[in-house]
Formats: sequence, C-alpha cells, structure tokens
Amino acid sequence: MCRGSKICKVLALLAAVAVAAAAAGGSECASSVDALNTATLNCSRRHIDVLPENWPQEILDVPADQHVLITFFNNSLTRVTQLPAAPGARVAVSFKNNTIRDVDDDAFRNMPNLVYLDLSNNAITGEVLRGEIFQGPYQDGVYDSIALETLNLGYNQIHSLDRNLFEYTPNLTRLYLNNNPIEILDHVTILALATATNLEVLDLAYTDIDSIPLDAFRGLERLQQVDLSGNKFLEVPESLSLVGASLEYLNFNNNPIVELNDDSFIGLTNLKELEVGENEYLEEVKRSTFSPLKSLRVLHLCHNRKLSYISHNAFRGLKDAWTLKEVYLDDNNLSELPSDLMPWSKLDTIGMTGNNWLCNCDLANIVIAQGAARKFKTGDIPYCVAPMRWSGAYITNVTLDYCPTFDNTFTPKQKKSFGIRDLKPKHVLWSIFGVAMIVLVGMVIGLLVNTIKAFYKKTFRSQPIHYININDDSSFA
Ligand SMILES: *[C@@H]1O[C@H](CO)[C@@H](O)[C@H](O)[C@H]1NC(C)=O
Ligand SMILES: *[C@@H]1O[C@H](CO)[C@@H](O)[C@H](O)[C@H]1NC(C)=O
Ligand SMILES: *[C@@H]1O[C@H](CO)[C@@H](O)[C@H](O)[C@H]1NC(C)=O
Ligand SMILES: *[C@@H]1O[C@H](CO)[C@@H](O)[C@H](O)[C@H]1NC(C)=O
Ligand SMILES: *[C@@H]1O[C@H](CO)[C@@H](O)[C@H](O)[C@H]1NC(C)=O
Ligand SMILES: *[C@@H]1O[C@H](CO)[C@@H](O)[C@H](O)[C@H]1NC(C)=O
Repeated sequence: MCRGSKICKVLALLAAVAVAAAAAGGSECASSVDALNTATLNCSRRHIDVLPENWPQEILDVPADQHVLITFFNNSLTRVTQLPAAPGARVAVSFKNNTIRDVDDDAFRNMPNLVYLDLSNNAITGEVLRGEIFQGPYQDGVYDSIALETLNLGYNQIHSLDRNLFEYTPNLTRLYLNNNPIEILDHVTILALATATNLEVLDLAYTDIDSIPLDAFRGLERLQQVDLSGNKFLEVPESLSLVGASLEYLNFNNNPIVELNDDSFIGLTNLKELEVGENEYLEEVKRSTFSPLKSLRVLHLCHNRKLSYISHNAFRGLKDAWTLKEVYLDDNNLSELPSDLMPWSKLDTIGMTGNNWLCNCDLANIVIAQGAARKFKTGDIPYCVAPMRWSGAYITNVTLDYCPTFDNTFTPKQKKSFGIRDLKPKHVLWSIFGVAMIVLVGMVIGLLVNTIKAFYKKTFRSQPIHYININDDSSFA
C-alpha cells in the first residue's frame, strides 16, 4: 500500500527491530551477581511479552550451589509458558505486575529447585490454577514435586482454589492470596488448603471474606502467621483456635468489628504479636479480651478512631505471668485509661499519641508513678487534651497535687464491679434461661402438689376414713 515511500521503509524497519527485540526477550536482560552470591537476571520493565526459550549464558554458568533470581517485573506477559532449565540450588522467579491470564501445564517442570514464585498483580483466575502447572520432572511414568516454598498470588482474580492445586508442592510454606475476590472460602478451597500441611504463612487480606469455616485450618499444624486484614469480619473467626497452638502472628486490621470481648481470641495461647487497628467501628474492648493470649509480646491497637473504652479487666488473669513488652494505643479515641489496666512498669515500649487524653490522676499514675513516661519513643510523647489547664501539655509534664500519693505498687482503684458494659447477649441469655428454669421447676412442683392433693381428696372421699392407732402399728414402734 505505501510501498516505496521512505517513511514507510523506516517504519517497517522499526517494526521489525521491535519484533526482533521482543522475540529475543531475555537476551537483553541484565545479569549480575551480588555480595550475597545471588545471581540475578533482571528482565524488569522491558516490554517483554513472550518468555525466552533459553537463559543467557551468564545464568547457565551459575554454579549449582548458588541462588538465582529471575525477574520479569512489569512487562507485558500474558502467558507463562514452560521455563527453560536454570541451575542453582534455590531459584526465585517473579512475574509480578504483568497481565498474565494463563499458565501452561508443566510450566516449571525444568525447575525442580524453584522455591519462590511471584505471580502477583496479574489477571489469573482460580480456573487457571491447577495442580498440573506445578508438575515437576517426569520420571518413570510419574511427575515429581517441585521445591516451591513461597507462592504469591496476590492481586489477581481468584474466587476459589482447585482442590489439587498443591499436589506437587509439598514444601509450600508461604501462601499469599491477598487482594483477590474470594468472598467465600468454599469447600474445594478448604480442601486445597488442607493439603498444604507445611503452611506457615497464610495471607487472606483484602479478599472480601466475612467468615472462615470452622474446619478450614484443620491439619495446618505449622501455621504461624495469618493476615485477615481488610475483610468483612464482624468478629474474630473462631476457626483460628484450631491453630491456636502454632499461631504466632495475627493481623486483624481493618474489619467492621464493633467490640472485642472474651470470645475474640479464644485458644490463641501461642500468639506473640497481634494487630487490631484501623477498625472503623471498634468502640469497646471488654473484660478478659486478651486473657487467652498467654504468650503475647506485642500488641498494636491503633488507629481505631471510635475506640473509647478499654475495660480495666481487659488483661484479666495475665498479670501474674506478664509477657507483653510493647503496647501501642496510638490514634484511638481514648480519653482515660484505668491505672490497673496492666503492670505498666513491665513494658519496654508504650505508644499513646493521638488520643484525647484527659490528664487525670489515673493517667498521672500510669505515666509518672508506674513509669510509662520512660517507655515512650522519642518524639512520641502524648499530649493532654483536658482539663483545660493542661490542654496541649505533654502528659509527662503533668503534676497533679490533689491526686492520692503515688506509690509504685500496683493498687487497683477502679471499682471491681461487673459493669453493664461487660454484659453480653450470652450472659443475658443465661440469666433468662436460669430464671425460666426456676419458674418452670416451681410450676411443676405446684402442679404435682395439686395433683397429689386432688388424688388424696378423691381417695379419702371414696374410702371410709381409716384411723390407725399409732401405738398399735408395729412399723412406728
Ligand atoms: C532492573 O532493570 C530495570 C530496567 O533497566 C531497572 O529500572 C531496575 O532498577 C533494575 N532492577 C534491579 C533490581 O536491578
Ligand atoms: C510499569 O510499566 C508501565 C508501562 O508499561 C509504567 O507506566 C509503570 O510506571 C511501570 N511501573 C513500575 C512500578 O515500574
Ligand atoms: C503495574 O503496572 C501498571 C501498568 O502496567 C502500573 O500502572 C502500576 O503502577 C504497576 N504496579 C506496580 C505495583 O508496580
Ligand atoms: C522439601 O524440603 C525438604 C527439606 O528441605 C527437601 O529434602 C525436599 O527435597 C524438598 N522437596 C522437594 C520436592 O523439593
Ligand atoms: C470520640 O469520643 C467522644 C467522647 O469521648 C465522642 O464525643 C466522639 O464522637 C468520639 N469520636 C468518634 C469518631 O467516635
Ligand atoms: C514540658 O515541660 C518543659 C519543662 O518544664 C517545658 O519546657 C516544655 O515546654 C513542656 N512541654 C509541653 C508540651 O508541655
């Protein structure tokens, strides 16, 4: 059509060069070896849309005991085809941020040492994720497993997992499913998870789920870290208690919970770090909320902008064997804290900024007498908002003459009564049940007495009255 014109010739030449560059793929990638002896093949940001048929010589020459990282971050790949064999004891491959929609069967068959695979930020659906894609080398009529330990599937289009997905990845330790439209952890997904028995890290953040079936984590005896942030949970799922013996870290940020109570963390006896922040609706932390957490070291209870009440019994039963070292209560809507909430002097780090502190005797006791003042991070000294006289002052600057003399012993001053705020539907139901039982028993007894009365009346009327002489009756002798 435009044959002959100079511009056309130039355009054609440019197009040919572009096609050649794309086809050559990996050849233009940069390879390097870093101080930690990891050989890196950097194919990032190169507009690659087809995977290379061979790795450059530098990668092929890598000694067998070395670590290899190959990254195709931010290209235009739409399909993961079978990768060429790469040497190295531990191989990591990243396809993060492409537009991958397909993964071929046996894609990683030449890479039995693939330990890390990042497929995040793509367009992969659950249907594409079949067990076959992770099949290892084919020997004696069977497929081997691959060494895969970390699989990042975040930011894709996954609703559900195939039940055989992890058939060839027995060493899978870290699974990231965050930012996928899962919505419901269905039966097959649970079956798939149940086969990943070596799982230690499970990321289910931002997956639109609002519940986790009770048996979802059955068999995951090594599960240590779970991220449930950014979901629709109205309460902390009870199913977590199934892995309570192994779970060390829980992220429960950004969920629509309204309160935390003695049911919230049941069974999580091994938890070391807990994050419950950015919960828009969280208003109250009730009595015994943290009581099950007998190993907790770090508590993040921050950025809950409605949180205004923490029961002075929230840590009930933990004070004798205190394990907490860091407590962050920053950016909530707190104005007061009970001085006996926790043994403040046993903490290493305390965060309290960004609240509406009423600098009263309790707070002065916590900060001065119990030494919280020494535990704030530099630059993170909280301010008083009230009373007027101290508004804007550091709470470490407050001196209140009218407070009872501080002593360093742990003196609970709060009422120990069982407050109405601590009442839960559970308690109310039991009370109603109790009253109902008493009424019922009363009624039954009443009925019985009446029946017996009626019976005797009837019998005594129908029979001649029979007087017995007590003295004559041997049974009374
Ligand atoms: C990889 O290459 C891209 C493009 O040249 C560059 O922007 C990026 O910094 C490189 N990444 C690393 C880890 O070297
Ligand atoms: C990824 O590539 C696109 C163009 O293909 C570019 O606009 C974007 O800035 C890149 N992102 C990163 C983080 O490199
Ligand atoms: C991924 O790539 C798109 C364009 O291709 C870009 O806009 C976006 O910033 C990238 N994301 C990340 C996390 O790099
Ligand atoms: C899984 O890990 C064990 C222990 O590190 C290792 O011996 C085994 O070869 C791995 N499995 C596969 C399929 O690579
Ligand atoms: C914070 O608490 C105060 C009362 O102490 C209340 O008036 C205010 O509405 C609360 N703020 C939010 C965001 O709930
Ligand atoms: C705290 O007290 C010191 C010394 O009395 C004073 O210089 C400083 O301005 C006070 N700061 C605040 C924020 O209260």
